[in-house]
Amino acid sequence: MENADQPQHVVITGGGSGIGLATAGLFAQRGAQVTILDRDPAAKQAAADIGAGFAALDVTDEVAVENVAAQLEAQSVAPSILVTCAGTLQRTLPPEKLGWPEWDKTISIHLRGTYACCKSFGTRMAARRGGSIVTIGSVAGILSGPLHAYGPAKAGISYLASSLAAGWGPSGVRVNCVAPGFTETPALDKGLSGGALDSGPLAESAALGRLIASKEIAEVIHFLGSSAASAVTGVTIPVDAGFLAASGWTAYGGLRRP
Ligand SMILES: NC(=O)c1ccc[n+]([C@@H]2O[C@H](COP(=O)([O-])OP(=O)(O)OC[C@H]3O[C@@H](n4cnc5c(N)ncnc54)[C@H](O)[C@@H]3O)[C@@H](O)[C@H]2O)c1
Repeated sequence: MENADQPQHVVITGGGSGIGLATAGLFAQRGAQVTILDRDPAAKQAAADIGAGFAALDVTDEVAVENVAAQLEAQSVAPSILVTCAGTLQRTLPPEKLGWPEWDKTISIHLRGTYACCKSFGTRMAARRGGSIVTIGSVAGILSGPLHAYGPAKAGISYLASSLAAGWGPSGVRVNCVAPGFTETPALDKGLSGGALDSGPLAESAALGRLIASKEIAEVIHFLGSSAASAVTGVTIPVDAGFLAASGWTAYGGLRRP
């Protein structure tokens, strides 16, 4: 049984912005020691602002991931929770226009990067016989869309949550995945301001008729990471304002809004 009174050291990749930063802030606010790992040097200031530690890391570099995991393990409080938020959003392109460099980069950051972090940190948690990992998938990994690299990468991340949960469950490590819907973050804002996305249809596609705040995703990540979810492992939980629930209604003329 996980002990809620033990000090928690939470490591968050991509913690310098958006969902990762909201999650880092929430864990810090609730008393955890937090370390942000991000490839953007500006994340150092964001970490300092919430009292978190920081190390520069590109999650696609598995040697660097392994090194930082070894360094953090040697600290007084070894990481007991890993949250893998590092990621970028993919441009919506038809297959004939989606080049291999963009496809490889997307798969590398999301699927390979998530696996590398789970492998380095999860192996150490398993050796210590306890820990909790929360990965970030997407509704795009559950329902098809014009995202021929991002979607498969996110589907793979969901798969890993269950395969790693089964692999490390006997060693007391839980692994779960949160699959956000359209969430207000700097990454989504970039798509909106560049004209690639339109907030109206994005909001309308969800049953609740709105975008999601980063804090709403962070709350579910916090739940899954903490001992409150001590019997939950191997699952993907959509936090999507009802995007998946509403998707089948298009064939019937869409949702009836009052
Ligand atoms: N915003 C959404 O609507 C949405 C929806 C579903 C899933 N997601 C997922 O949530 C996660 C966070 O996205 P966000 O919207 O908060 O984006 P964001 O751009 O606000 O934050 C992403 C962070 O990841 C960091 N990062 C990117 N590549 C990295 C790498 N290779 N190594 C280390 N750090 C790296 C960035 O520097 C940034 O700080 C991503 O995995 C994204 O796919 C987002």
